[in-house]
Amino acid sequence: MNEIQNPHIIKVKKLFARYDKKIILENIDFEINAGEIFMIIGGSGCGKTTLLNHMIGLLSPSSGNVFIEGEDLFGVSEEKQLSILRKFGVLFQNGALFASINVLANIGLPLKELTKLPEEAILPIVQIKLKMVGLDNVLTLLPAELSGGMRKRVAVARAMALDPKIIFLDEPTSGLDPVSAGEMDTLIDNLSKILGITFVIISHDLISIKKIAKRAIFLHQGQIVAEGNPKEFNKHHNLIVKNFFNREQEEEEEEEEQEEVEL
Ligand SMILES: Nc1ncnc2c1ncn2[C@@H]1O[C@H](COP(=O)(O)OP(=O)(O)OP(=O)(O)O)[C@@H](O)[C@H]1O
Ligand SMILES: [Mg+2]
Repeated sequence: MNEIQNPHIIKVKKLFARYDKKIILENIDFEINAGEIFMIIGGSGCGKTTLLNHMIGLLSPSSGNVFIEGEDLFGVSEEKQLSILRKFGVLFQNGALFASINVLANIGLPLKELTKLPEEAILPIVQIKLKMVGLDNVLTLLPAELSGGMRKRVAVARAMALDPKIIFLDEPTSGLDPVSAGEMDTLIDNLSKILGITFVIISHDLISIKKIAKRAIFLHQGQIVAEGNPKEFNKHHNLIVKNFFNREQEEEEEEEEQEEVEL
């Protein structure tokens, strides 16, 4: 099946997903435009990572389709599917770097495994990717010698190794302090603007969502309950969505009340 007329870089159509008998996603339908920063939002365990794993071909849907530039990811030959997957870079939720090898080897790994590039061609590519994520002088360091924020940047550099058109990031700011999280947002925004990369990002981070997302979907109990500009989700008619986006304000109010009590 081929949707030649499809102008979207990604289209998820009537997707159902399950683990054994447990249904996780029901009738998921949305599109992502080329070059946009698109976010997948929702409470813990609602199926965000499961959805991402279907979009990158790691899991196949129990029914429905994922189209990448009009081509059905699960309706093409294995060879064609591999060529589609080469358009992706992925930062997995628990996507740690390999601890026993240095930064150069970590970022160079996809180049070594998936291309025929000679060893000497890998170093300059890795250096360019590190520059793009704003890191210098880290080539020979092991992951344990980097800060959490630096590790995430190296992981983004690794996701960029094969010059992907689309980068999937599963919670890129989780575990980072607010300053490092802000720097990660700026990095993503810049890469999107300068290189035109399409970003699909899973996030819980309200600041990040409001700052860089152009469009988003909100998942709840396996379904999309909100879609559009997340800056407007704080007024959404669905209470789950509305409360999620107003929690920051509520937390601040609670803290203020607490301070008053303590005084
Ligand atoms: N491999 C698996 N086998 C069986 N059930 C799974 C598997 N992976 C996830 N699940 C279940 O599917 C549901 C959705 O999980 P998923 O990891 O997609 O959620 P999530 O939205 O990414 O959560 P979080 O925000 O905590 O990362 C959960 O109930 C989870 O327990
Ligand atoms: Mg997850």
